Amino acid sequence: MILVTGATGFIGSHLMCHLAQKDIFPVAMFRHESNKNVVWKLFESQFANAQERFEKITWRKADLRDLPSLGAAFEGISHVYHCAGYISLAHRDVNKLLEINEKGSAYLVDLCLSHSVKKLVYVSSIAALGNDPSFTVIDESTAWDNNTDKSPYAYSKYGGEMEVWRAMQEGLNAVIVNPGIVLGKDSPIEKILERYYKGLRWTTPGTNALVNIQDVILVMNELMHSKIKEERFILVAENWTGKALVETLLKARNFNRRVLFIPKGLLFFLWALEHLIQVLGIRKRFFTRALISSQYEQKTIAGGKIKSFIDFEYSPITRLIFD
Ligand SMILES: NC(=O)c1ccc[n+]([C@@H]2O[C@H](COP(=O)([O-])OP(=O)(O)OC[C@H]3O[C@@H](n4cnc5c(N)ncnc54)[C@H](OP(=O)(O)O)[C@@H]3O)[C@@H](O)[C@H]2O)c1
Repeated sequence: MILVTGATGFIGSHLMCHLAQKDIFPVAMFRHESNKNVVWKLFESQFANAQERFEKITWRKADLRDLPSLGAAFEGISHVYHCAGYISLAHRDVNKLLEINEKGSAYLVDLCLSHSVKKLVYVSSIAALGNDPSFTVIDESTAWDNNTDKSPYAYSKYGGEMEVWRAMQEGLNAVIVNPGIVLGKDSPIEKILERYYKGLRWTTPGTNALVNIQDVILVMNELMHSKIKEERFILVAENWTGKALVETLLKARNFNRRVLFIPKGLLFFLWALEHLIQVLGIRKRFFTRALISSQYEQKTIAGGKIKSFIDFEYSPITRLIFD
């Protein structure tokens, strides 16, 4: 039996839909009853017999931070797609990020080992890659370096990935994908883009590595059924500047608005101000130096390796935006 963690999330729900199209109904991990609705809505938009298909899903309630509940979710499981994770760019979420993305992944891979799981497909992130500013092209071989500033999210995803590599050394058959910003229906980034539709005019000049959700799902599915193991694959179709992305998205929705750059100094001023507010005990901070710097870096994240392992081509980002 297949287990999908994070089935109620953006990537997990699209995976559930993809599997249902093939008449595969896995065990879906969830935390809150109401969030099953994310999967239901997607099924409803895709299938004429949505109800019938939805009822075939086996739901198991578990939290990555709670080993007994996670252990119970593993009963009879032979294959795992690990799509659960916590996404936050805020410094104040550091503990939660490490608990879910790093420690939760450690629990998960240990359970994979103790349940003799045949294959794990693990969703990491490009945040877990090395980001030495002297490299203009980043790929799977770019080494992680602790000397470059990184966000708590990056540390948590890197820590999670290290747990998977450790488990692979202990005999787990696993493969890792590192998607860039995933675009598609109901993606987390849509919430940010909504602000532009409502009139936000500011952006930063850095590059964003983008990929279509359907491509991510396709690759994950291929990897699960392949003999490929002990590899990591960056999933990035194209690298766009924030300005180009926002202006193209606005154009696609018939908004004719120019976006402007936020001066880097202003963000560092806010960062310093937030430090002061935190020291005064008023509120914990959001900004990190790493987050600000990353928004001004021009680099290419290369997603080509996967194409030499499986028969696959990325779909163009403009097609996703304008279709
Ligand atoms: N979206 C992207 O652009 C992107 C890019 C690269 C990598 N990723 C990685 O892909 C993974 C999924 O991302 P997403 O976009 O699908 O995020 P999402 O929409 O926020 O979904 C996250 C999923 O993880 C579950 N989850 C969160 N905390 C959990 C916990 N403590 N125990 C069990 N489940 C928990 C959530 O369950 P609830 O419904 O109960 O909250 C939800 O199902 C993350 O690990 C993220 O780092 C995402």
